[in-house]
Amino acid sequence: MTAIQISSVEKSYKGFKALKGVSMNIEEGEFFGLLGPNGAGKTTLISTIAGLIRPDVGSVKIHGHDVVTDFREARKRLGVVPQELVFDPFFTVRETLRLQSGYFGIRNNDAWIDEVMHNLDLTNKADVNMRALSGGMKRRVLVAQALVHKPPVIVLDEPTAGVDVELRQTLWKFISRLNREGHTVVLTTHYLEEAQAMCQRVAMLKLGEVVALDTMSALLRRVSGSQLVVKLKSGDLPEGLRHLVSHDEHNENNGGNKYTLRVNDVQEVEPILARLRESGAVIDEMALEQADLEDIFLQVVGDKQPGGPQ
Ligand SMILES: Nc1ncnc2c1ncn2[C@@H]1O[C@H](COP(=O)(O)OP(=O)(O)O)[C@@H](O)[C@H]1O
Ligand SMILES: [Mg+2]
Repeated sequence: MTAIQISSVEKSYKGFKALKGVSMNIEEGEFFGLLGPNGAGKTTLISTIAGLIRPDVGSVKIHGHDVVTDFREARKRLGVVPQELVFDPFFTVRETLRLQSGYFGIRNNDAWIDEVMHNLDLTNKADVNMRALSGGMKRRVLVAQALVHKPPVIVLDEPTAGVDVELRQTLWKFISRLNREGHTVVLTTHYLEEAQAMCQRVAMLKLGEVVALDTMSALLRRVSGSQLVVKLKSGDLPEGLRHLVSHDEHNENNGGNKYTLRVNDVQEVEPILARLRESGAVIDEMALEQADLEDIFLQVVGDKQPGGPQ
């Protein structure tokens, strides 16, 4: 079954098109990554999935239920961890989670609430007021809140932005377990190594459009095997090697030219070095690097992943 069906979604803010016709299907049980630089439209898309904003054009269905016309049925099947921290500061952690259960019409949910709190290391904060929690702890409650009704589809918008390594590990352990148990997981993250480690399939968004949508392994194959980074002290890259260049940098100040060349395997390195020698170029520095999701992101989105989320 299709967990989330996104069809031709468009959304404008006062004439600015944040989503320009986005379509994708996320299947039940997938661990799916939604990636893109700041401003790509990830949060807008997630807000549309959550039924928090209405698309101008197109539709979103959760397990077949339209998020606009069949909101309650769609919402029941969905747990969303929003990017922004929003809480009522006067409730304790447990009260917050009980209230959220009540919102979904679930009574006597304490066994599951306890289990969720335990798995997110929140048990000793159960009776603490929300306002007294640190940012990282609030983030945990936000995750717990999204899981309170055991939704089959879990969507997390930058859940690890600005949180410590310990929480990232705790969180991924729990989310991976839920995914193994059959929950569909959709994730946006700035940590591409996290996405690479966990997501089976990835969509990359840029300026409101899908620019890549593929399995992680197919995406990784796109940037052939490895890359050879050579910095030249003198001379230049011979014409015959130019077709291998995936990235170049010229630094006028120290006269160094730095090239990143695609290589399929280590055997191809030696002939490249021989050609450089023949042309009289002198190598200053050299490294063979395994291509990763960051390289694909750079190629597809044409932008470095910025330091912090927005
Ligand atoms: N409420 C809003 N009003 C006006 N513009 C908005 C609003 N929300 C988002 N935008 C704009 O829409 C674009 C996409 O934003 P967003 O969905 O938050 O991207 P992302 O989550 O990928 O960083 C950005 O250019 C942003 O400035
Ligand atoms: Mg966002």
